[in-house]
Amino acid sequence: MNTKANQGKALITGASTGIGATYADRLAARGHDLILVARDVARLDKVAADVKAKYGVQVDVLPADLTNKYELLRVEQRLRGDADITVLVNNAGMAVQGKLIEADIDRYETMIQLNVISVTRLAAAAAANFGKRGSGVIINVASVLALAPELFNGTYSGTKAYVLNLSQSMQTELGPLGVRVQAVLPGATRTEIWERSGGSIEHLPAEMLMEVGDMVDAALAGLDLGEAVTIPSLPEIADWNAFAAARQALGPNLSRNKPAGRYLNNAG
Ligand SMILES: NC(=O)c1ccc[n+]([C@@H]2O[C@H](COP(=O)([O-])OP(=O)(O)OC[C@H]3O[C@@H](n4cnc5c(N)ncnc54)[C@H](OP(=O)(O)O)[C@@H]3O)[C@@H](O)[C@H]2O)c1
Repeated sequence: MNTKANQGKALITGASTGIGATYADRLAARGHDLILVARDVARLDKVAADVKAKYGVQVDVLPADLTNKYELLRVEQRLRGDADITVLVNNAGMAVQGKLIEADIDRYETMIQLNVISVTRLAAAAAANFGKRGSGVIINVASVLALAPELFNGTYSGTKAYVLNLSQSMQTELGPLGVRVQAVLPGATRTEIWERSGGSIEHLPAEMLMEVGDMVDAALAGLDLGEAVTIPSLPEIADWNAFAAARQALGPNLSRNKPAGRYLNNAG
């Protein structure tokens, strides 16, 4: 994805603020027309007006609450049916703070609806459209917490582990069809998500917190490098490669016709 005009349309969810609004700016700068999805129409209109003025691209605003099945279906239909869409940024997400045993379980369910169900349905719709054409890019925004369930609310990190898993499976399925899938795993990034989830970024050490523009620029650089998984803050890609290789090495032994020897020692 290099900077030039007529790159097709990018549909970005969660585009009213934060990481999604920043993708809107950067993808417009690269010559993409945009379809912006979120709930807050006034904020979407503002993002749309800003990028139109800066880059002269076409922008459609498609308001939707992605936890509402009917509104989600409208976005899916657009993704399946619009042949000009070349990029999906599957970004809308929410977090919750706190322990499972004290949870407002309905809020957890809403989070799973947004972070898992809507991401899956939109990914499937884009995959069908792009797969037919033999080209397209799907960017799924996960989190480094996919790799660190001990650090934060485990249900949130579980939704992000799901997004990573889904992305890796999609790479296997869609790569041969010419469709690229990138999982982006941001660390702590300065956006509203912290306050929205009832937390705060104030307690975070400054060296752990990335500015949102830096995060999205790094994620797009990772996309340009051909990365399947991008961790914007990770200094050495060799560390990710070693982790991925260790996981792959388990492969031949994950399903066998006999239990492992250590489970047979106490038998009969
Ligand atoms: N910031 C971080 O530290 C961080 C780290 C790792 C991963 N992430 C991930 O990055 C993604 C973007 O997060 P962010 O930090 O940019 O958060 P944010 O500033 O809170 O923005 C979230 C976006 O999602 C939209 N959204 C929320 N609920 C929605 C719903 N029900 N239907 C449609 N849109 C909805 C919001 O717009 P409306 O309110 O207008 O609907 C907003 O545009 C999320 O998937 C998040 O999990 C963030």
